Amino acid sequence: MDGLGTSRNIVIVGFMGTGKSTVSRLLSERLGWERIDTDEEIERRSGLTIPQLFAEEGEEGFRDWESRVLEDVLAGSRKVVATGGGAVLRERNRRAMLAGGWVVSLTADRDSLIHRVTSSAAAGTRPLLEGDAEAKVTALLQSRRHAYDFAQATIDTSRLSPTDVAQMMLNWVR
Ligand code: S3P
Repeated sequence: MDGLGTSRNIVIVGFMGTGKSTVSRLLSERLGWERIDTDEEIERRSGLTIPQLFAEEGEEGFRDWESRVLEDVLAGSRKVVATGGGAVLRERNRRAMLAGGWVVSLTADRDSLIHRVTSSAAAGTRPLLEGDAEAKVTALLQSRRHAYDFAQATIDTSRLSPTDVAQMMLNWVR
């Protein structure tokens, strides 16, 4: 398993509901590194929520924000970066992530993902899952089945707590 090595940042990728945000929070606390969540950073910079941004600028407009934020954030160092589930779709972003950090992919089985993304706290926060969230997760999982393969390490979070996942990552880093 590749460790952090000389990478400057830790980049967490993975499908919606794999726990990227929570794990990034724990990791940044334990490492004393700054945490950036690209969705939160996009909302801060644009002054819009993610659903508002999708409504006003469409998915491509949102993806442009995402690419710009990723490039800026990855130019720095000692950051734990939680990315949005679709940040891996552009090759340009994948290259920026590999150049700027150690890329770890979080996965989970379909049932765990559906359970997590349909929880009341998650309701209405993800435009790509509006309507029949279960059907949309299934279709997106299929279309993105190899999208996270470029990561240097993968952790299946289905039966792990966020604390367990963060600890596994810390063990690799240290
Ligand atoms: C998206 C995932 C979301 C957010 C946006 C699009 C995706 O982030 O960036 O709604 O395309 O998978 P999370 O993975 O944090 O839910």
